[in-house]
Amino acid sequence: MSNIAHDHAEEYIRSLIKEPNDLQNELRKYAEENNVPIVHKEVAQFLRVLIKSNNIKRILEVGTAIGYSSILMAEAAGSGAKIVTIERDENMYDIAIENIKKAGLEDRIEVIKGDALDVLNNIQDTFDMIFIDGAKGHYSEMLKIVTKILKKNGIVFSDNVLFRGMVCSDELLIRRKITIVKRMRKYLKELSESNIFETVILPVGDGVALSTKIKEE
Ligand SMILES: C[S@@+](CC[C@H](N)C(=O)[O-])C[C@H]1O[C@@H](n2cnc3c(N)ncnc32)[C@H](O)[C@@H]1O
Repeated sequence: MSNIAHDHAEEYIRSLIKEPNDLQNELRKYAEENNVPIVHKEVAQFLRVLIKSNNIKRILEVGTAIGYSSILMAEAAGSGAKIVTIERDENMYDIAIENIKKAGLEDRIEVIKGDALDVLNNIQDTFDMIFIDGAKGHYSEMLKIVTKILKKNGIVFSDNVLFRGMVCSDELLIRRKITIVKRMRKYLKELSESNIFETVILPVGDGVALSTKIKEE
């Protein structure tokens, strides 16, 4: 399992979460069968509650994969929502476009093909929430860019920040992941010490960091 929460707790919590429709079910199954990493079930549910309870409408996502989280966020945000999502993998991009069409959400979701570090610099709009779920070794660089386009009191939601527990404990560390883990630790330290963001790190899914922008730079 995740090496973060106890297996029995994770299994129990997941057993209570039902995908809200057939397409979300189908996409989760596809992801499992094809080893596509998508948000854990409890992180998906966390996003739904967060978006609905804060009336979040404008969301920027880094890492579309097959479009599972873009679709769930667009559905949770409801009418008037705008999701801009970035994906660099050509195959994933094509699958996401197809799935977004199937969901009938082309008007709410814009998928941009490219590397996030290039694309983010050219985005002028502002957002209520930024969901960082791609380019695990580059969260810190991305944060610097997205801080400018996040509204005051907006949220940065960073996924996989505890990275299978390796970020918390060297005993779990796999040698080839050392760089990502070091960078993630640096990112979490920056967020925790920032005077622009207030952050909570939670052992949900693969670890999430929730940061709200408390002042302009
Ligand atoms: C964890 S998956 C995203 C899952 C998706 N958010 C979901 O839950 O349905 C990460 C995705 O980020 C993409 N990615 C990784 N580095 C990237 C980068 N530098 N720019 C854009 N996309 C990137 C990968 O190709 C992969 O599809």
